Amino acid sequence: MMELGTQRIADNGHLTIGGCDTVDLAARFGTPLYVLDEAHLRSNCRAYRVALAAGAPRSQPMYAGKALLTTAVARIVVSEGFGVDVASGGELVTALRAGVAPEQLLLHGNYKSREEMRLALECGIGRVVVDSLPELPEWQAVAEEMGARVPVLLRVNPNVKPKTHTKIQVGQIDSKFGLSIQSGDALRAARDALALDRLDLLGIHNHIGSQVLGWQAFGEAARQLADFLAAVRDDTGAVLDQVNLGGGLGIRYLPDHEPPSIEEFVTNVVGALRERLAALRLPEPLVLMEPGRSIVGDAGTTLYRVGVVKEIPGVRTYVSVDGGLYDNPRPALYGAEYNVFVANRAAAPADTVVTVAGKHCETDTLFSDVKLASPRAGDLLAVQSTGAYNYAMASNYNRLPRPAMVLANGGRAEVIVRRETYDDLLRCDLLPLRLSGG
Ligand code: LLP
Repeated sequence: MMELGTQRIADNGHLTIGGCDTVDLAARFGTPLYVLDEAHLRSNCRAYRVALAAGAPRSQPMYAGKALLTTAVARIVVSEGFGVDVASGGELVTALRAGVAPEQLLLHGNYKSREEMRLALECGIGRVVVDSLPELPEWQAVAEEMGARVPVLLRVNPNVKPKTHTKIQVGQIDSKFGLSIQSGDALRAARDALALDRLDLLGIHNHIGSQVLGWQAFGEAARQLADFLAAVRDDTGAVLDQVNLGGGLGIRYLPDHEPPSIEEFVTNVVGALRERLAALRLPEPLVLMEPGRSIVGDAGTTLYRVGVVKEIPGVRTYVSVDGGLYDNPRPALYGAEYNVFVANRAAAPADTVVTVAGKHCETDTLFSDVKLASPRAGDLLAVQSTGAYNYAMASNYNRLPRPAMVLANGGRAEVIVRRETYDDLLRCDLLPLRLSGG
């Protein structure tokens, strides 16, 4: 087990999170169960806030809601001084329902529907991040129709490729995201934005990738942002005030993963930006960052119940659990690996090599060739670092109801997402009259 946040092994050998015995949690709330360690989530938020405040005269941390957005999570991050970055109408509505002030919201996306654009302007959103040239006149048109103004950041593409899974590299020129600095699109967009009378060009944004276990690529991107701000100044005379450095810091999924600390990451990346800005004689901007995974990822743990243990002599032992692709598609999508152990015998030696399989009607392998403490039917498995992009990417494949999520803190656990029911699954089904038999 990796000692993350408040996770401990109690004297009875059970894993505890936020002072709650996970065996009790599973009995009370059922499995699969997402458990969120509130104290750890808050301490990740604070680490960003403190490092940003120390690293720049003006800063604003934002939370990338795509990693995990529920109304309770939104409340927590906002209470820690964060704004919220939303990537869709649904995320926007969730944040608003949670009571997040619209000025604290930022809207992303390489394709924003007219409906999403209207929703954003209607609520008085603090920032929208424009991703492409054709999007600029779209915003102008929607704003004219509504008599509104549009607070704009331009997402620029610095052509930096960080070391991570290819599916989550987005800073290289061959990417659907952002306005290329290299091709001249970014500068063209700055000129266009300045010329459109409904748009207020506040600054620039970039995001180069996710689960990156180093800060150097982000530093390189930050320097390019500074150079681009100088190019905008020299070309248009406009000195832009805001720089959003995106998210992307990786977390520990396995004991041998060694991401930089939040402090080291922020200090180095913000430092690289400010150093270059000073050399270019540009003023101190408002610095924004929008981490998702490194806020919530290692604060989440999934609990599964072991159902069947099937040993194929000389071949492999399969351990089937009540979860799978539907609650965590990341192993199937990205070959993602996780640290898994028997939560009800957390201190026992992990001596048996097994493959943990999900319950879907396909191979649905969660964890291949992992060592567990001789797992048996009825055991509880804990999977660490599942806070980000698990519930957020969960589905109802095989018509499985999505699991509940509880918030654990100080020995108390409260449900923040209730388990879906079969009625929830049927909620959107309709029978045309001619099929209804009536
Ligand atoms: N800002 C923007 C514009 C983003 O696109 C993202 C993530 C973030 C911030 C937050 O990045 P983070 O700090 O969480 O790395 N489903 C994938 C991850 C997709 C990341 C999408 N963008 C996965 O499960 O690994």
